[in-house]
Amino acid sequence: MSADVLENLVSLAKRRGFVYQSSEIYGGAASVWDYGPLGVELKRNLQDRWWRDMVRLRDDIEGLDSAILMHPKVWEASGHVSGFVDPLVECKNCKRRFRADEPALKGEPGSPQAQCPACGMKGTIGEARQFNLMFKTFMGPVEESAAVVYLRPETAQGTYVNFLNVQQATRQKVPFGIAQIGKAFRNEITPGNFIFRTREFEQMEMQFFVEPGTDMDWFQKWRAWRMEWHLGLGLARDRLKFYDQAKEELAHYARAATDIHFDFGGSLGFAEIEGVHNRGDFDLTQHQTVSGKRLEYVDQPNNKRYIPYIVETACGPNRTLLALLVNGYAEEKVEGEEEGRTLLRLQPALAPIKAGVFPLVKKDGMPEFATKLAAEMRQRFPVFYDESGAIGRRYRRQDEVGTPFCVTIDGQTLQDSTVTIRDRDTLKQDRVAADRVTDWITEKLSS
Ligand code: GAP
Repeated sequence: MSADVLENLVSLAKRRGFVYQSSEIYGGAASVWDYGPLGVELKRNLQDRWWRDMVRLRDDIEGLDSAILMHPKVWEASGHVSGFVDPLVECKNCKRRFRADEPALKGEPGSPQAQCPACGMKGTIGEARQFNLMFKTFMGPVEESAAVVYLRPETAQGTYVNFLNVQQATRQKVPFGIAQIGKAFRNEITPGNFIFRTREFEQMEMQFFVEPGTDMDWFQKWRAWRMEWHLGLGLARDRLKFYDQAKEELAHYARAATDIHFDFGGSLGFAEIEGVHNRGDFDLTQHQTVSGKRLEYVDQPNNKRYIPYIVETACGPNRTLLALLVNGYAEEKVEGEEEGRTLLRLQPALAPIKAGVFPLVKKDGMPEFATKLAAEMRQRFPVFYDESGAIGRRYRRQDEVGTPFCVTIDGQTLQDSTVTIRDRDTLKQDRVAADRVTDWITEKLSS
């Protein structure tokens, strides 16, 4: 992302109520962010789209909402206690810590040539050691090792331990999936790039249980479907690409993995917004062994029993939201006007506010007409009523937050009950009967 676009986006996000730094009045909590009135709408619209496409529109995927805190044995079985680590180095001079593979770190850690990317001293970077990314806390009132629990670093494990509960309750047959949206926590060594890498974030994950031997076919299918889904959000085709992980890059659980990368531009460039993983039978076998409970699927008609393989799709709504902002952000000249405009080209269905409603002037009954119309429209979708300032300014304020339509009540409205609807992208104005406006906009919101 070019420094300017990121800076502009961070400032727009704060000014207009998309994203604020957490605990800002205390100087901020590092790399933790709060979503304001428009941010929460946009994030919810994105999550609702995922839930609709992954759960509601399919009869082979069920929903789940498992808890963040789980039995600590889950994380031993899953390999996270021993294997969810990043190599960490520390500068003996400035005490700053970095990932050992941080590109700005020059020289081999522990050697006299190693140079600290923060203070610039040479020979002060110690040898790399493994740092576990899970947050630890205590369950109950006693802070002792027996009470240690972890904040989950992925939603997936909550799905695996519920695999048979869901399968038996729904009578689903393999192949089928379980989807969930929820918080995850990772004590990242180097978070950053605004909301791209944070220590608290959300995941939209789906685990698809398949018969062993069919796993690579399903992996290929999900890889393609998930790319189509991102294109369907309006992300530009040339900003999206697959990144197939090489064997040595694979996580401890994966047999194959492809990331979907979005081009954020500037120094971040192409970076992961979703991972599609073939996890084989690693997770269910581990949970079966450690818990001592059978986690096999019984295929009665075919007289088979087996531990299903799992194909996982793991998408981050925070990163995808950032991708939508970067993808949609534009600064444009407007013909006949000195001041240009900033706009967010968000799909109408994803935009936080669907319509601005403006009386042209604050008299002649226009505000009354507009207020009544806005109240009717609000029954169906979020509307912003604005009567302050010049009409051009009101349009600009909505362009900047991605509002696709602006409805203006003018002199003609009082004569024939028609209003204008201005399109954010084309600037074209249609004149529509006021009692048709809600339906007219609702039609444009279906995607
Ligand atoms: N269950 C598999 C799993 O967690 P992952 O590739 O580590 O896979 C999946 O994470 C997605 O979660 C990523 O593609 C990304 O969108 C999001 N994600 C992971 N770590 C993140 C972080 N520190 N901040 C924001 N999003 C993150």
